[in-house]
Amino acid sequence: MGNGARERRSAESHTQGGAKDKRDDVEKKDFSYFCIQSRWGVTKHLGGRRATERLVELCAFTADSKVLEIGCGVGITACYLAKEVGCSLTSVDLSEQMIAWAKKRATREGVADRITFQVGDAQNLPFSDETFDAVISESVTAFAPDKPKAVNEYLRVLKPGGRVGLTEASWVKTPPPAELVEFLSHSMEGAEFLEPEGWRALLDRGGFTDLGSEVSHLTARSQLASDLNGQSWRDVADRFRAMGAFIRQYLTDADLRRYAKTLMPSRRTMRSFFTYFGYGIYTGRKAQ
Ligand SMILES: C[S@@+](CC[C@H](N)C(=O)[O-])C[C@H]1O[C@@H](n2cnc3c(N)ncnc32)[C@H](O)[C@@H]1O
Repeated sequence: MGNGARERRSAESHTQGGAKDKRDDVEKKDFSYFCIQSRWGVTKHLGGRRATERLVELCAFTADSKVLEIGCGVGITACYLAKEVGCSLTSVDLSEQMIAWAKKRATREGVADRITFQVGDAQNLPFSDETFDAVISESVTAFAPDKPKAVNEYLRVLKPGGRVGLTEASWVKTPPPAELVEFLSHSMEGAEFLEPEGWRALLDRGGFTDLGSEVSHLTARSQLASDLNGQSWRDVADRFRAMGAFIRQYLTDADLRRYAKTLMPSRRTMRSFFTYFGYGIYTGRKAQ
């Protein structure tokens, strides 16, 4: 929820009073998924570094490519691409705080002069038509309320023949249990995950050709491994720092504990997680 909407909701609640006031007081602190991530400077996508490497292969990047990354979060992939591929890179994110973390990371990793970071919305990209050779995005389009609009934007800013590559969480078995859908959407900013055919259809309807998809199932072990692979000791330290900050706040902030309780899934939902939830890498090309 954006600040404006939050403030509006909060103002409405004061006219209604009672339990709603209390709920909005908790929300005012904002424990939402992205707020927590941007406060403590951690983001991730399913598949981790290995999925990024595969995305780079499928999109056939070279050092000469002009690449746009959408929803860069704290800049892990941007820094990796600047170092390992050396392509010209522009990375955008909806959140100013994420961009600030990403700039800090790029400075720390000595690649700040090779990446342009700026605030930008996937659904309304601040670039002219036919600017980039490739557009990539990892775990972002699921959060866009208007996915077709976002995909139209990806097509618009690509040069003819340019490639798009999206790594997105996907329902690898369908239909997923309603409770699991509700739990993930509620805990992750209203994200809407699609099944692989849905992601392909989105690119197809958006005008992309040469569609490709590679779908991966997850296990608890593969998810942990994907969180850690390709991470430097500093990345791991960042995660521990964020986890420590979260635990400290959890122990001292009753509102956070109350909020976390509202997210708690049932055991049945937890057990169904890896059966239904995985990710895919979806690619396409803009016609010449
Ligand atoms: C799950 S995180 C993934 C971040 C990064 N790609 C990574 O793999 O670490 C999603 C990111 O997308 C950003 N985001 C969400 N909606 C967006 C939109 N409409 N346009 C641009 N960025 C968006 C969020 O601020 C967040 O940084």
